[in-house]
Amino acid sequence: MAHLPPSSAFLLTLTLLHSSAAVSVDVSPCDLFVGQWLPDPSYPLYQYSSCPIIDPEFNCQLYGRPDSDYLRYRWKPAGCDLPAFNGLDLLARMRGKTVMFVGDSLGRNQWESLICMLNAAAPLSAAVMMRGDPLSTYRFLEYEVSVSFYRAPYLVDIDVVNGVRILRLDGIEKNGEAWIDADVLCFNTGHWWTHTGNLQGWDYMGDDGAYYKDMDRVLAFQRGMSTWAQWADRNINSTRTTIFFQSLSPTHYNPTEWKNSMSRNCYGETEPMSGFNYTSNNLAELRMIQVIRGVLNSMRTPAYFSDITRLSELRKDAHPSIYSGDLTPQQRANPDRSSDCSHWCLPGLPDTWNQLFYAALFF
Ligand SMILES: *[C@@H]1O[C@H](CO)[C@@H](O)[C@H](O)[C@H]1NC(C)=O
Ligand SMILES: *[C@@H]1O[C@H](CO)[C@@H](O)[C@H](O)[C@H]1NC(C)=O
Repeated sequence: MAHLPPSSAFLLTLTLLHSSAAVSVDVSPCDLFVGQWLPDPSYPLYQYSSCPIIDPEFNCQLYGRPDSDYLRYRWKPAGCDLPAFNGLDLLARMRGKTVMFVGDSLGRNQWESLICMLNAAAPLSAAVMMRGDPLSTYRFLEYEVSVSFYRAPYLVDIDVVNGVRILRLDGIEKNGEAWIDADVLCFNTGHWWTHTGNLQGWDYMGDDGAYYKDMDRVLAFQRGMSTWAQWADRNINSTRTTIFFQSLSPTHYNPTEWKNSMSRNCYGETEPMSGFNYTSNNLAELRMIQVIRGVLNSMRTPAYFSDITRLSELRKDAHPSIYSGDLTPQQRANPDRSSDCSHWCLPGLPDTWNQLFYAALFF
């Protein structure tokens, strides 16, 4: 040390300080999911106009959403600070690897958000997008990082026999084949399990050789989740692959939940609910979250429970409502009936899910 000129010693100290600062953000003892939304003018993390892959149904500003305060909130965990999202850092750490989101359109919402966030960090990086069904992949060529979405709204397989769709509560091998090689898997499922009528994605449920016209949906969900957990325990090498499971993404179709009798749903909401203590009174949702927790706890394979329900419930302001490119002009003229209060605008709330994902993955 004595031989070093003072300026190099200074430089060395700076470097050490810098690198220790970079690794000392220890969020492990802190519950990232308990906290509050604070106004922060430095948000959003990217502009809709600079992200080429946002689907019309999430692209609220492009489709005329007039207010913008909803873009400028930061999630502040009560016991720590969320590490700042560093897209270049994520790309560097994931070099040669694949992040795959698996699930329903909420997973697609989060997948597109992560691509926008990474694209904002490396706007000039060459990339290719391959859109398909069930698998879509965005590849950052320079960084050799793939960010994929695999559509499987129930996670478990759906067999089609003579045009009849059978939801296989006991089968997931067909879907699972596409997941095995990913390095980070982020699963979500939930909403489709309670859908009925036109939105129901199956004709029969099949389990252990028996077929059912219907059954208690939370019970069916429990069976499907157990099948998923067994698949992970049999197939996932946790030295190589990290598993995340997203808690349910809440909807805002019932304004009595936030006691604003002026509105029929999320339409016209421009700010989050305040406080830490809000909890939904949606019973099926609460039971399904219990199922997820129970199944994750019973697995041999570690899976990180991304507990985003409560923090998202506060964000009645963050849905597309009528500013979704998927709606017709007639639907837009009828917010009471047609608002989308289930998906989320981009930029918007899923960016925070990805900040939490980044924090949990690396810190
Ligand atoms: C799990 O993955 C690690 C790292 O890639 C590898 O060294 C190990 O052999 C794998 N284990 C099994 C059982 O395949
Ligand atoms: C949350 O609820 C608990 C118990 O009901 C109460 O003691 C606490 O002050 C509440 N916290 C906030 C931030 O409202």
